[in-house]
Amino acid sequence: MCGITGFTGYTLALPILMQGLEKLEYRGYDSAGVTLADDIGLVTLKAKGRLSELRSILDESELLQMTGIGHTRWATHGVPNNLNAHPHTNKRNTISLVHNGIIENYMSLKQMLENFDYDFKSETDSEVIVHLIDFYYRQCLDMETAFKKAVGDLEGSYGICVVSRHSPNKIFVARKESPMILGIGKEGSFCASDVPALLEYTRQLISLNDGDTAILEPDKITVFDAEGKEKPIEWMDSPYDMQSAQKGGYDTFMEKEIHEQPQTIKETLRGRLSGRKIVLPELDDIRDNLKNINSVIWIACGTAYHACVYGQMILNKHVPINSIAVPASEFRYGNYHVDRNTLCIFVSQSGETADTLAAIKMAKERGALTIAVANVLGSSLTRLADTTIYTCAGLEIAVASTKAYTAQLVLLYMLASKLSEIMGYSISEHQEIITNLRQLSNMTQQFLECCKPVVKEYAQMMKDERDVYFIGRQLDYVSAMEGALKLKEISYIHADAYYAGELKHGPIALIQYQKIVVAFATQPEVSAKTISNIKETVARGARVILITDKDTKADGFSYIIRLPQIHPELSCITSAIVFQLLAYYAAVERGCDVDKPRNLAKSVTVE
Ligand code: AGP
Repeated sequence: MCGITGFTGYTLALPILMQGLEKLEYRGYDSAGVTLADDIGLVTLKAKGRLSELRSILDESELLQMTGIGHTRWATHGVPNNLNAHPHTNKRNTISLVHNGIIENYMSLKQMLENFDYDFKSETDSEVIVHLIDFYYRQCLDMETAFKKAVGDLEGSYGICVVSRHSPNKIFVARKESPMILGIGKEGSFCASDVPALLEYTRQLISLNDGDTAILEPDKITVFDAEGKEKPIEWMDSPYDMQSAQKGGYDTFMEKEIHEQPQTIKETLRGRLSGRKIVLPELDDIRDNLKNINSVIWIACGTAYHACVYGQMILNKHVPINSIAVPASEFRYGNYHVDRNTLCIFVSQSGETADTLAAIKMAKERGALTIAVANVLGSSLTRLADTTIYTCAGLEIAVASTKAYTAQLVLLYMLASKLSEIMGYSISEHQEIITNLRQLSNMTQQFLECCKPVVKEYAQMMKDERDVYFIGRQLDYVSAMEGALKLKEISYIHADAYYAGELKHGPIALIQYQKIVVAFATQPEVSAKTISNIKETVARGARVILITDKDTKADGFSYIIRLPQIHPELSCITSAIVFQLLAYYAAVERGCDVDKPRNLAKSVTVE
């Protein structure tokens, strides 16, 4: 979750480093620092808190070096303070390092180094690496060799950038599980932990693979494989542009991304509806394997997990097969039965979530067939799965996932439908659903515009609430879970999701006068029962915001939002527009930092 930037070239490094770190601020952090390097030596400045604290101690007139590295730290080992902030330097201040990830064998490495009289200033695992490089440099007096030896000793995850007085215009880079993007442009060579930091300077980008190392020089980048052999560079055309990394006239990235959904839904569908059929060529290579599958496990974290519950419910509606959705953090320790006849589907916006990556590695070890559903091109998850299907939601910067979630729902519907077909089961209302999928982009565009005023009004009701409850049955429970997560993660209002049928088994004890209940009733086979559950809460004084379809009778409810006519299996998508806006407006009313909620990061790359 840390932000990393690096530059070596023909212009001042500091402005590039700082601008890059600002573009990565959305990842969440608690301290920041930079090292500037030249043949005179290294200058390192660090500060606890936001980038503004770091800027306040930088004298740009003094920092004219053309090579440097920068870091924004999300604390994993050691509290947020100057000592633990990156970059970390060796005792002689000839080597400086920034790191993203967790070094699992840092204690044994630290003990070995202490036996050679190395002193440690910080509580971090990262500091071990810079001393290890120093340890090897003293033996071979060559930075490239020392760097590769040190990296070879590391266990765990890392994205590392190193500068040194010994090689002042070079940056040494290594990647394992933590993302590392390199780029080259007219000003020089760049590295960063995510694309937005580089977009302003170049679109000629490469994402390092696990085990790769690289050396950046002002006019060239050299990449080495895990064996240390030089390898050809496969440049990727950046799918993003500056525009998509900016706010486009909205107040926040989250507001922008909510409004992008009609377009991102269209992008995710593009090329995947052919006549009356859903087309997923990504499944072609594993089609025969899929026919032998006798169980399906959907695995993800957070919002992506909620999308998995949706996919699992859709598949279960059409195929009599064992199919469960499990949070990745639980899958790893839950001793779930996985073998070569198990299909494991991993969903992740970032493709870098540590728990999800650990889960796919475990599933592969047990012989499972694996599919990744990811949003970021070339992310770690996509390199581990047997096949990847990309959501096409574009850059999602706000920590709270919105457009990636609806893109996941659309894609998981198509995936579940395709799996049903491959496994020999047809979906009876298939044609109606295909028609609705074609209409979805325009439908959500119109609905978004027409529902905003009333949703904004209802959000006002939540402004001073301490608790809000979300309820639903069947697919509506997916919306209840995701709606509760959205509200709590950006407005800090406590919100929980309950199966509507479970209310009377305990949760209804929480309902009292004026409590707000957000209820979803879009599933015809259970709507009547949900409505009677909701009336039980009204009878106890609750204010109910009912999100339902055009046909459900809803007499006596004061706050109703009727969704556009759509097949019930797709109503989770239109319901999402409502609860995302509810959460957004409530958070804005409460003056919360909508794009960067406290304690959260966009990609949880540590466990
Ligand atoms: C959702 O709004 C949160 N940002 C969080 O729950 C997120 O969905 C989760 O961390 C999974 O991230 P991923 O999709 O990148 O794996």
